[in-house]
Amino acid sequence: MITYIESARQFHLNTAHTSYVLAVADEGYLAHVYWGPKLEPQDLTDLLRLDEPPFVPSANNRERASFLDTTPFEYPCGFTGDYREHAFGIETTGGFRACDLRYVRFRIFSGKQDPEGLPHTVGEGAETLMITMTDAPTGITVLLYYTIYRDSDAVIRRVAVRNDGEKPVLLNRVLSASVDLDDDRFEMISLYGSWARERQLDRQPLRHGKQRIDSLRGESSHQYSPFFALVNPQTTEESGNAYGFTLIYSGNFMLQAELTQHCQTRAQIGIQPEDFVWELRPGAYFDSPEAVMVYSAEGLGGMSRTFHKLFYNHLIRSKWRDQERPVLINNWEATYFNFDLAKLQGIAQEAARLGIELFVLDDGWFGRRDSDNCSLGDWIPDQRKLPGGLKPLTDTVTGLGMKFGLWFEPEMISPDSDLFRAHPDYAIQIPGRPLTQSRAQYVLDYSREEVREAVWAQMQAVLDSVPVSYIKWDMNRQITEPGSAMLPPHRQKELWHRYVLGVYALMERLVTEYPDILLETCSGGGARFDAGMLYYSPQIWSSDNTDARERLRIQYGASMFMPPSAMGAHVSVCPNHATGRDTPFETRAHVAMNGTFGYELDVTQLTDEEKAQIPEQIRRYHSISGLVREGALYRLGDPYRLSACAAQTHSGWDAWMYVSEQKDRALLTYVQITAEANMRSRRVVLSGLDENAVYHYNIDGTDYQKTGAYLMHCGVLFRNLWGDMQSEQVLFTAVTE
Ligand code: DGJ
Repeated sequence: MITYIESARQFHLNTAHTSYVLAVADEGYLAHVYWGPKLEPQDLTDLLRLDEPPFVPSANNRERASFLDTTPFEYPCGFTGDYREHAFGIETTGGFRACDLRYVRFRIFSGKQDPEGLPHTVGEGAETLMITMTDAPTGITVLLYYTIYRDSDAVIRRVAVRNDGEKPVLLNRVLSASVDLDDDRFEMISLYGSWARERQLDRQPLRHGKQRIDSLRGESSHQYSPFFALVNPQTTEESGNAYGFTLIYSGNFMLQAELTQHCQTRAQIGIQPEDFVWELRPGAYFDSPEAVMVYSAEGLGGMSRTFHKLFYNHLIRSKWRDQERPVLINNWEATYFNFDLAKLQGIAQEAARLGIELFVLDDGWFGRRDSDNCSLGDWIPDQRKLPGGLKPLTDTVTGLGMKFGLWFEPEMISPDSDLFRAHPDYAIQIPGRPLTQSRAQYVLDYSREEVREAVWAQMQAVLDSVPVSYIKWDMNRQITEPGSAMLPPHRQKELWHRYVLGVYALMERLVTEYPDILLETCSGGGARFDAGMLYYSPQIWSSDNTDARERLRIQYGASMFMPPSAMGAHVSVCPNHATGRDTPFETRAHVAMNGTFGYELDVTQLTDEEKAQIPEQIRRYHSISGLVREGALYRLGDPYRLSACAAQTHSGWDAWMYVSEQKDRALLTYVQITAEANMRSRRVVLSGLDENAVYHYNIDGTDYQKTGAYLMHCGVLFRNLWGDMQSEQVLFTAVTE
């Protein structure tokens, strides 16, 4: 519920458990007042400290700059006195950069207004506060949007900029949100990584100055995820303050926390301002992406559950969102580029026999792609590997009762491709400068409609020729030499954002024209594991690292803000192709069930013992996948924890639970990461259950019935298992009398 208190000129955004408050202060400056546990709407003017030096400009105009440099602002702009990082920046035709946004009016309405061409939250129960601000000398109008949903504690912010002046203006910074938190005891939790090592957790105290994570790679990236949380030192998984931020966007981003001279923390999120420019002509609009901001008093777990639920209820649009996803087998780790029809048919036949439901043909089926050196852009089946094209294979697959899925990398072009030979200018490049290759490929200039059309026509021809139920949309390199043949010199920096808009436009076309297709996005593993993608694809390939032990960390990090049901997770062979590590087949499945489950191996080469486990794993996955999709996640263990016993130096254990909304079912997965000799059984204390309900469960063949209170205080015991990476899954069912 959004309330305006006229006497205090304050806006109170109240969700079920939180309040976010802003106010119109002296002379129309828009100030941030409060964000935290829920408060009934009341006058919170005291929190602004307007009666303390340097005082407001109307009382002390000679120190206006000091006022601007100390007041907590909702949307700070640059070069008029606030020397902290600004959220909004412009450059006039005269080359001047100062800006001074002042409040004009507000509107509160049910529903929301969506950013054009960008992914955004959807659905019932939204209420929006829109505040109009203006910079009088230039005529730039900024609309600040704040949306809350009835069923969520998140605040969704974005801005729209309109040029109401008479001259074009260059926007050089349009962050989606900025918030000045009145606290200096924060630690910043962010997710760093690399290829095959995505989303590693980092927790560091804020120091005075600015701490930033960002991407200037053209995608959200392996290196940093567009997410951070600000927490207090005492914040744990289930208690304490956690402020989480993410962006519904898949391109260059920036998240920054600045601890200021007066020991307040300015948190900001938006499109990466570095190398960003957007020319705004008179009358034109610019929309920023939506930022999602979550406050939880229930620690990191509460914060994550709020993100998950919001994204499930209000971002994932695919009809597959709440449907049982088919268990897939992908041939990438089974064959890489080295396959022919007979080989694929053999895998499909054995997979079908074991109950696998979807066969996915990965890279290597088109052009003359025997390696990653060529053919991107030529989406025509390779007749050498697949005589007669894809049809003989899809006939086999569908004849076996399986669905068929296909890999594309639509944003890329190989120098050795017919498309590049015909249209070298389609690649992003700078005239007269050598183009840097990465994986022997270039990035297509998706800011250009004719480039997107050239790819779409080919994709469409394939999709209309064979029954494709699933697409894996991959993206395997980052942008260099950012330059577009179509943009004038002063607008070249628009390319980064225009590229992302182009990707979204083609994805939108795909999901609109083929609404039944299950789309899984991917980027060299998990370089585009972001909320923007969720709007198009209900599942995202989370990493090329399928090692169960490494996946514990990757999936734990990803679950900080992304729903587990979105994490593509597969069982692969051992020794693992990324690490060389051996882990039990059953544990690989237990870990992969913490996501969207599948296999990525040559099933014909498995031992009989391994094969025998597959039908049971598929049955189990289908019996629990509703819980993973719709249940609440409770992280009970910690894959970073050094030891089972805190004083030790080797790895201990991890555990997590999914609890149904009615709290009548729950799934616990426990992984003993490292075996330790002569250890007693390990006690794992559960979370999220109904204290008064009685649950039935079975561990090691013994049936138990215990109350939720018992399980959440006393827990369950797992005996010391023989060997590293041993795991158990336990299902809890409420007993009805
Ligand atoms: C990167 C993906 O993450 C892999 O799963 C696979 O599809 C390869 N690309 C194919 O080139």
